[in-house]
Amino acid sequence: MGKVMLEVKNLKTKYITRFGEDVYSVDGVSLKIEEGKSLGIAGESGCGKSTLALSMMGYYFAPLHYTSGDIIIDGKNISGMDPDKVRTTILGSEIAYIPQAAMNALNPTMKIIRFIEDVIHAHNPKASKKEIRELAEERFAELGLGKEVLDRHAVELSGGMKQRTVIAVSTILSPKVLIADEPSSALDVTSQKMVIRMMRELMEKGYIKSMMFITHELPLLYNVTDDIAVMYAGQLVEYGTAKEMVFDPIHPYSHGLMGSILVPEEGTRGMNLTAIPGTPPNLKRPPQGCRFAERCKYAKPECFYTAPAERMFGENGTRMHRCLMSEDQLRDIYSKENGGAQA
Ligand SMILES: Nc1ncnc2c1ncn2[C@@H]1O[C@H](COP(=O)(O)OP(=O)(O)OP(=O)(O)O)[C@@H](O)[C@H]1O
Ligand SMILES: [Mg+2]
Repeated sequence: MGKVMLEVKNLKTKYITRFGEDVYSVDGVSLKIEEGKSLGIAGESGCGKSTLALSMMGYYFAPLHYTSGDIIIDGKNISGMDPDKVRTTILGSEIAYIPQAAMNALNPTMKIIRFIEDVIHAHNPKASKKEIRELAEERFAELGLGKEVLDRHAVELSGGMKQRTVIAVSTILSPKVLIADEPSSALDVTSQKMVIRMMRELMEKGYIKSMMFITHELPLLYNVTDDIAVMYAGQLVEYGTAKEMVFDPIHPYSHGLMGSILVPEEGTRGMNLTAIPGTPPNLKRPPQGCRFAERCKYAKPECFYTAPAERMFGENGTRMHRCLMSEDQLRDIYSKENGGAQA
């Protein structure tokens, strides 16, 4: 096993709304990303993907609150660390985060080099403008962005260019982990490909050591990340390698997600396009039993009152699913549904 760059153990965080209600958006998530590896997080809107990303940086501000669990970056446990210390010693240098719709949040009147100065100065207030420019020019050239971009304003850049610039700026300090929340979702297909290629390059060139990629598009992850985790109602319901998750999804929710999209890869072409009926539960009052039971066509009475625990399986025990039924029972059901053919 490679060196673990990021590990999260039983992380629980919640929002407290202005009416004083708790929203349990991340409710017991555990995951690991090794050096050189990328993990994709998939799940429908409102499942808690963005909250998980935010929570994993250990940088909490209202309405988001830490409840319990560990966040370990390259062996260092940052949970419970003072937010100011997180900002000056962790964000950008240990873990870089690209929020959903980050490119639209760039101040349009600021030159790109100024953003880079801000990122670097947050960690090293003494860095000179000359040093920063040298580093930035080299990095932008390496990433195929062109050093002239540094003197442009965000407003002058196209969507795809803006997003690649945001990624290059956020990773200027060569962090151990990059967390990108839907980095390609708002882009056209060509720009999407360029963004993804650049994220791969960052890893290949050693500018980042591991990556977490969030999207609601499962097929995109298949081509981009090594592993995939599926999130539902604040919890992970399954994870495994990208291949395992696409060709042998076990949890009824992952299975449904896979069935509701068409993967343009050999072997999966022609899968049924069946959206999962219903909507995720309200996270202010998560169901007592399995969170997916209400929408699960295989649910039995016990599923509504017994919450399933994480269950490790697979050859090396590296896969996980959270269903009361065993992986063999579930595979059996899917196989029968397909008229005995392999799913
Ligand atoms: N500021 C907030 N205050 C209270 N609840 C919030 C807040 N932000 C998000 N939530 C709730 O937390 C849950 C998870 O939201 P989150 O944005 O993390 O989901 P997501 O999986 O990223 O969705 P999407 O795919 O739409 O980006 C949802 O139920 C949402 O309503
Ligand atoms: Mg989100």
